[in-house]
Amino acid sequence: MSEWNCQKVWRKRPHSHVWLVENQEGERGYFKFATQRQWFHAGPMIVNEFVAAYLAKHLGFPVADMEPATIMSPTGKIRHGFVSVRANAERVVRWDKAHPKVRRSPERYVNHLDLLRQLVVFDAWILNTDRAGRNLILYRDHDSSKYNWYLIDHGHSLYGPAKRWKQYPWNHPHWRRARRFFYYSGGYPRLTVTKSDLEPMIAKIEQLDSSVIDEALDTVPEEYLSPSIRSFIRDLLLYRQKRIRHMMLRWLRYKKKIALRKRKAKSAEPALPNKSLTEKKSPS
Ligand SMILES: Nc1ncnc2c1ncn2[C@@H]1O[C@H](COP(=O)(O)OP(=O)(O)OP(=O)(O)O)[C@@H](O)[C@H]1O
Ligand SMILES: [Mg+2]
Repeated sequence: MSEWNCQKVWRKRPHSHVWLVENQEGERGYFKFATQRQWFHAGPMIVNEFVAAYLAKHLGFPVADMEPATIMSPTGKIRHGFVSVRANAERVVRWDKAHPKVRRSPERYVNHLDLLRQLVVFDAWILNTDRAGRNLILYRDHDSSKYNWYLIDHGHSLYGPAKRWKQYPWNHPHWRRARRFFYYSGGYPRLTVTKSDLEPMIAKIEQLDSSVIDEALDTVPEEYLSPSIRSFIRDLLLYRQKRIRHMMLRWLRYKKKIALRKRKAKSAEPALPNKSLTEKKSPS
């Protein structure tokens, strides 16, 4: 494991702090931690991150490398968290900050789109309410090549922030309506349009053995995982695994309905009058 040093305190949010860090090999990363006082907004953030990253990798998604780390702040405070390692590439950019043409025509600019189309299924399974455009990273070495991508930030998945359960209990129907909790700025779920986009990942998740969930839980550094959080996450994943097909097909039907409604509304719009014909000539 490498030794990371804080370059800059970058963000302090109610749900986490992020520092820019670097190790002796010159690798860069983002050190993330939450204090006990942030429980309401952060929950067991590190547990969520490790478990989700393991499951993502197991299902074939590229994920940022993660290293548990203990780092001293510029003011001498010791913090325990993990480093999300930045890709070592010429250009590294968040999906929502990429050039609009990349998001408009990802088939021209992004590799492994078939896999990206399946990401919604994984997010629904792990109850990830935060797959915003900023939590998908694109990278490439040359302007002429397509971008590769990887996932970051699974803090709002699984147990998520503690406040989540004040709204609805974990097995409430609310959490099975993907459209209610998917937060989709940036638009890549738009790529998922047909049942065949979803099917391979639905089948993969349905077939997963519960031992994989145990393995994922075993990757969490011991000091972060209490027995009650462990069994909560295990139960949640098994429960949602059984319902994933139904959840996704329902979401797709909803998406189609909305698309149809938009098309109808558009075709019902009156055609704009031609300006040159309607403009009155100014009196001479
Ligand atoms: N491995 C990585 N590669 C590139 N950028 C990263 C990586 N990890 C984190 N970042 C950057 O750091 C930001 C914050 O990290 P992260 O999303 O994990 O924390 P957060 O507190 O949830 O932030 P936010 O509320 O912005 O999502 C990301 O939006 C991204 O810009
Ligand atoms: Mg984030």
